[in-house]
Amino acid sequence: MKNIVLYKSRYGNTFQYATWIAEALHWEIREFSEFKKEEINEYQNIIFGTGVYIGKMNQIKKVLKWFEDKSIIIFACAGNNNVREDIEVIKRNNFTEEQLAFHKFFYLPGGVDFSKVQGLFKSMLNVFRKVLEMKKNKTEEQKAILEGFYHPTNYVDKKHIEPILAFVQKSDIS
Ligand SMILES: Cc1cc2nc3c(=O)[nH]c(=O)nc-3n(C[C@H](O)[C@H](O)[C@H](O)COP(=O)(O)O)c2cc1C
Repeated sequence: MKNIVLYKSRYGNTFQYATWIAEALHWEIREFSEFKKEEINEYQNIIFGTGVYIGKMNQIKKVLKWFEDKSIIIFACAGNNNVREDIEVIKRNNFTEEQLAFHKFFYLPGGVDFSKVQGLFKSMLNVFRKVLEMKKNKTEEQKAILEGFYHPTNYVDKKHIEPILAFVQKSDIS
């Protein structure tokens, strides 16, 4: 049986983590759009990783439907540097309690570089930024969001994949 890392990545952070994980485990790696539902039974173990955009993990609905009977490892890659409250929000926005108990979830810190954003997201973000800039009494959180617009953040680091590798090795599935 085969093992595979599937990923969806708009700006490259999730792709970087997926690549490191696949290399470390010697697993196959593929963009999720290139993977067909009919192939699921060919794989013993699957890791799916994706970025988070406006609270939502890309493709997560489809993944949870496809894998409702097969437990997989799922990781989200988002803008915060392992902030527990933000990770809880991502979990609540994207999974039910049952789904979280069935699959194994990990969070990997990405970062934000708004200069890379194009299209509809860019227009939406510009409106959001202007609204925040005009606010007179900004909260600490609003100030931090604005900082992100002016200075890109990047927390991507190979060390963050260690808990996933440890889980795979402990489960003896590598
Ligand atoms: C338009 C946009 C919306 C985002 N929304 C969120 C969000 O709601 N929560 C969060 O923690 N990070 C958010 N981020 C940060 C991304 O999740 C982060 O950049 C992640 O690393 C993206 O993964 P990728 O590089 O694989 O595309 C957002 C980034 C962009 C560009």
